[in-house]
Order: sequence, then structure tokens, then C-alpha cells
Amino acid sequence: MTRAQRKQDHINYALSTGQQRRTGYDEVAFVHQSLPNIAVDEVHLQTQIGELSWSSPIFINAMTGGGGETTSKINEELSILSRETGMAIAVGSQMSALKDPAERKTYEIVRKHNPDGMVFGNLGSEASVQQAKDAVEMIRADALQIHLNVIQELTMPEGDRDFRGALDRIQEISESISVPVIVKETGFGISKETAESLSRSRISAIDVGGFGGTNFSKIENQRRERMLGFFDDWGIPTAISLAECYSSSDKPILASGGIQNSLDIVKSLGLGASAVGMAGVILKQLLESGLENTIHEVNQIHTDIQFLMSALGCRRIEDLHNVPMVLSGHVYHWLESRGLNPGGYSNRAFNM
Ligand code: FNR
Repeated sequence: MTRAQRKQDHINYALSTGQQRRTGYDEVAFVHQSLPNIAVDEVHLQTQIGELSWSSPIFINAMTGGGGETTSKINEELSILSRETGMAIAVGSQMSALKDPAERKTYEIVRKHNPDGMVFGNLGSEASVQQAKDAVEMIRADALQIHLNVIQELTMPEGDRDFRGALDRIQEISESISVPVIVKETGFGISKETAESLSRSRISAIDVGGFGGTNFSKIENQRRERMLGFFDDWGIPTAISLAECYSSSDKPILASGGIQNSLDIVKSLGLGASAVGMAGVILKQLLESGLENTIHEVNQIHTDIQFLMSALGCRRIEDLHNVPMVLSGHVYHWLESRGLNPGGYSNRAFNM
């Protein structure tokens, strides 16, 4: 199995296994307020994470590249989508281009079509400092995502089996490269303990990459003869992971994993996220209904977010961090048993 074939498998199986819709967002609700003293055109979607700033709270999360023409075409369209809508965009893991320079153009095409946009590079936590520098240089990345994907590697027939030293390498990279480092999970969520460890390093943000959307255990299990089914239900749902990270880290927190629509996005921002990533849903929409329709849909989502923020009396993304929200069911009980005060969200005070 070549790396390019594996990339193609990931796209096909991501589409066929789909979104699990087990993020916990159904157990998170806003409290309706009848007197929001605001006009819709006062709502701004400008997003700020340290020195990174762009005009949408959404980023297209890391997906592809390194699989020849098919992945190049997808990256080209995702890049145009980001340029036309103001979303930031992350490329998929660039390791394949570092190992095979012929694949570089499948990533460079993103910067080519969006020369002035917010573009994130992507590597795994096995990467060296030099590889991180090369990945950033390859696409003139504004930030570098480093992904954590232990469960995917364990389930992948040809995956890594040695996970030692990841935190040290992340620390070294974040001290050595010229752009911010964002550490992300890939659909299994980041716990309070992991967030605390990461927060002691020089990284700039944590993307929770929670459970409940694209499921890389299911995807890799499709590629195995003997399935490791016990990993299919493994992971921290996105809503819970957000609360775990937001309560335990002073770094900006990004939400992703199973984000499907405008309400999921606004709930993520309400739970403390500074920006929200979408991968599987955008890929499906793009491949099934084409670029023009996807641009239209994303613009629609931006309008929806402005409406939702108006209903909540919020002019800025960060205002959402203070609106009251009620958590219930499994989400509530998990956070309570972890000592994370789920009731605290209900009584937050936001002056409209
Ligand atoms: C991914 N994802 C991913 N993540 C990463 O950090 N590097 C990568 O190369 C890839 N590759 C990749 C390929 C495909 C086809 C998909 C669908 C996803 C994971 C992605 O960024 C995200 O963390 C998860 O997909 C969960 O988010 P969604 O899909 O539920 O929005």
C-alpha cells in the first residue's frame, strides 16, 4: 500500500463512515434572552488567536495532500473556498511531501490559490524541528498544526507503535519555528490532563479535535482484516473536551470534531472556543455538491452565525464566552465527576 493510496482510502472511508453525531452538543443549550439590545449588522465575525487574525470564526481543518492529482484537486478547491469565504485553511499532513518532493505541489496549490489567506501547515508529533521548518516554508504557513493521533496509528495496520517523546518534540518545535504551533487531536478529544501538559510548553493554541464526527478508528478498521472495534467508541466528545481544555488551560482553545452546522459552531464558541474547525462535513459538501454551492453554503452559515449571535446579544466572538449555557445529561455528569463545575456555565453573567 503506497502513501498515496492510503490518502485516497482515507477520503473514501471518511465519506462512507460519515459523521457519528455523538459530540455532546445535543446536551448543551443556550438560554434565550428576549431583550438583546443589538442590530445584526453590529455583529462582527473577526477572529483572533494570538497574532493570527481572519474574518471568519471557521477554519477548514486538515485533510489532504500527498496523494497525487486527486488530492491536489481537492486542495485547490478547498483553497478557493477559503479565499472566497474568509475561512482559514489547514492542509493535510505534509510528511508525504517531505519524504517525496514530487508531492509538494499538492500542498503548494493551497497557497497558490489563496496567497493572502490564513493557511496552516500540518505534521504529526513524530516530526523533527527541521521537518517543521520545511513544512512551514513549503506553503508559507501562518501557523503549524501538530496532530496527535495515537488511536488512528494503533488501528492503522501499518501505523506507528512507538509514541515516546512527543511532548518533548512539540516543545522543541514550538521554541524553534517562526510561526505559532497549534496542537490538535484527530477525533478522540483532548483531556484536561493533556491540555495541562501542553500548556506548560510554548505552543500557541489547542484544537480539541473531539469525538463524535469523523471517526478514524472506524476508517482504519475498514482497512484491517481483524477489526479493533473497541476503539470505535473511544474518545472524549467534543463538547466535553472543550470544557476540559477551557477550564484547565490558559491557551486559546479551538473546537473541532463533528461540527456540522451554524448552531454547533456557536455552541462551540459559547463553550470557550476562539475558532471552530470543520473537516468531514466540508469535504462531503464539496465533493457532492461542488465548489459554487459550498461557497454559498458557507456564506449562509456566516449569516446564520450573525443571527444566532444577535439572538444572544453578542457583538464579538469573545462575547459568546460569557453567555449562560445549560449543560445536561451525559455531558453534565462527565464534567461533574471530573470536578469541572458544569453548573458554572448556567450562571455566567453577560451584560448585553
Ligand atoms: C483528516 N484529518 C487529518 N488531521 C490531521 O491533522 N492531518 C491529516 O492529514 C488529516 N487527514 C484527514 C483526512 C480526511 C479525509 C479527513 C476527513 C480528516 C482529521 C481532521 O482534521 C479532523 O481532526 C477530524 O476529521 C475530525 O473533524 P470532523 O471531520 O469531524 O470535522
